[in-house]
Amino acid sequence: MGIKVDDEKLLFHIQGKNTSYVMQVIRDGYLAHLYWGKKINKYRGSNKIIFIDRGFSPNPNDKDRTFSLDTVPQEYQAFGNGDFRIPAYQIRLNNGSRISDLRYKSHKLYKGKPKLKGLPATYVKDCEESETLEILMEDEVIGLLVTLTYTLFKDLDVITRSVKFTNQGQESLRLTRALSMSVDFRDDDFEMISLYGAHNNEKNIERRKIVSGIQLIDSSRGTSSAQQAPFLALVRKDTNEDSGEVYGFNLVYSGNFTAQVQVDPYKNTRVSMGINPFDFSWLLEINESFQTPEVVMVYSQNGIGEMSRIYHKLYSQNLCRGDFKNKVRPILINNWEATYFDFDEKKIKSIAKEGIELGIELFVLDDGWFGKRDDDNSSLGDWVVDKRKLPNGLEKLANTITSTGMEFGIWFEPEMISVNSDLYRQHPDWCIHVPNRPYTLGRNQLVLDLSRDDVCDYIVKSVSNILSNAPITYVKWDMNRNITDVGSELLPYERQEETSHRYILGLYKVMDYLVDRFPRVLFESCSSGGGRFDAGMLYYMPQTWTSDNTDAICRTKIQYGTSLIYPAITMGSHVSTVPNHQVGRITHLDTRGHVAMAGNLGYELDLTKLTKEEKQVIKEQVKLYKEIRETIQFGELYRIFNPFDGNEAAWNFISKDKSEFIATYVKVLSLPGAPIRTIKFKGLNLDYDYKDVSTGEIFGGDELMNVGITIPRIKQDFQSIQWRFKKI
Ligand code: DGJ
Repeated sequence: MGIKVDDEKLLFHIQGKNTSYVMQVIRDGYLAHLYWGKKINKYRGSNKIIFIDRGFSPNPNDKDRTFSLDTVPQEYQAFGNGDFRIPAYQIRLNNGSRISDLRYKSHKLYKGKPKLKGLPATYVKDCEESETLEILMEDEVIGLLVTLTYTLFKDLDVITRSVKFTNQGQESLRLTRALSMSVDFRDDDFEMISLYGAHNNEKNIERRKIVSGIQLIDSSRGTSSAQQAPFLALVRKDTNEDSGEVYGFNLVYSGNFTAQVQVDPYKNTRVSMGINPFDFSWLLEINESFQTPEVVMVYSQNGIGEMSRIYHKLYSQNLCRGDFKNKVRPILINNWEATYFDFDEKKIKSIAKEGIELGIELFVLDDGWFGKRDDDNSSLGDWVVDKRKLPNGLEKLANTITSTGMEFGIWFEPEMISVNSDLYRQHPDWCIHVPNRPYTLGRNQLVLDLSRDDVCDYIVKSVSNILSNAPITYVKWDMNRNITDVGSELLPYERQEETSHRYILGLYKVMDYLVDRFPRVLFESCSSGGGRFDAGMLYYMPQTWTSDNTDAICRTKIQYGTSLIYPAITMGSHVSTVPNHQVGRITHLDTRGHVAMAGNLGYELDLTKLTKEEKQVIKEQVKLYKEIRETIQFGELYRIFNPFDGNEAAWNFISKDKSEFIATYVKVLSLPGAPIRTIKFKGLNLDYDYKDVSTGEIFGGDELMNVGITIPRIKQDFQSIQWRFKKI
């Protein structure tokens, strides 16, 4: 296991626990992709590339008509040298030329994993965990150096890829496409899985047969987006949750992206991913470098479930950082759906007081505490407490709440500016805009230009000021619109297409500073819910508000889709009131609790309006969640029934040592003539005996997994069952 390099043959074999990825420098210095899949001990070249004269295919070497990049499987493809598929990168020179060509120059192998300058990335704690291979490619004609970086996480079947461009030529050049990876498979026997959605309806699973031509998902919204996640997986036709091959690709980036699958006429499949080349270019002056974000590639031969568990492990241990990485997450009460903008100190205190009695650990003051914000028309940017609502100030309120033993958290939307704000009156040029063109509002607000240092400094200062003057241990970092009128007043005309990426770099710089300066603050990111739920954000903020849709039935799908990549410990998940504010559904409080317990449990309703019985139920939910949260937050997730397939959803979490598991079953509609079925739990220890904590019944792990347990008959819509089993 490890990365094996045959220096003579220039053959690179990245060998994981269960996977092998092989490349070789072939004739004329081209770097070919030879294999990725199930692990092999030694690669000797059994799957030779057969070179055929295909008539119209161009030949870089005029002496050999059989060699054409039109068909060669490559690692990182150029434009203009005979490969007519989507290139991995493109350039433009001052003379207008867009042609480039990369040949092998050198390589370097070392332990550990380098940081990516200015960008989030997976990391290792101990350099023995991983090995890194850098392959340096060169376009001699223009002096362009391209470093392809591959890191193998030895204990996981994970390979990360990223690319660095360095201009060592005689003149500046412009990158017009700079993808993070590309890989050529030599067949097209795949289906593609992606996650699409919308506000309140994030992370729907889409699975489709790939066909000839290009199938592409992307975002050009300035965020990774609720509409498409920066993720895709290729799976075999018969791959399901528990068996079959899966190739997962996830970009660690929070801005515009593209991810595409192209099937060529010879049935080869090219997958590539990276920053969206749409409305992007980057000017590289002589001796400057450009670093792409990284793609996390996961291979599983045991189905989609295993791919997810690999991502979960990697992201919770090698992406999320800080004090909270391995700490259980607090149960919170958030006042948003309880009050919206309409609250005062008395109201907040009364909700917090109820929360304490129910055992809730953290109070979160949401939008509306600053400036003069009684609706969404004003005050973003004015991060000064509104004394009309909180006459004694934030510090006093936070002190009162924390003195009762509850923690205090607060909402910000730091990247935004309202036109009706003191900040806008002082700095109308600080928003993203195009001079002499009217701006486009979204939720009545504009976006601050984070490509500017002065704007980033202001955000750091104003957020720090609040966090240093009150006992705040949690921040919800919101972002409630997509970016339009893309342009920055400070950038010269030839750099305007850098704005979107520079915005993200500015955001990363700001977050990096703040999470470092306030290590005891738990940061949760949010973008109208899951509009920027991505691995880039998780590097800075270890949890994300999964969706503004808090309806338990909708959440079964949203959380199921999200769990394809992200672990439960990263998902904010709240119980809200009924009828539900987003879809109007009335769902039993038990069901709301069971579904919310599949992430970091919170409450988002007016606790002062609950009946005595409801309070009792919530008290018990809180007590139970405290007992089981280690299993949910640090255990492993197994998905059982897929809500996208029909009328029910089910999953179970098993603790690391397999001594406890929590299983949940949700039935959407109660149907006549429904068959009596069993549910087979997954991931248990076959040799353990487990006891059902509520009935006292004992079953072997093998029986629970292979025979299953009968699902009690359910005669009502939107009902759920939760089991807790412990090893005896
Ligand atoms: C959108 C978030 O997703 C909500 O939870 C809430 O914080 C509002 N913004 C506040 O404006």
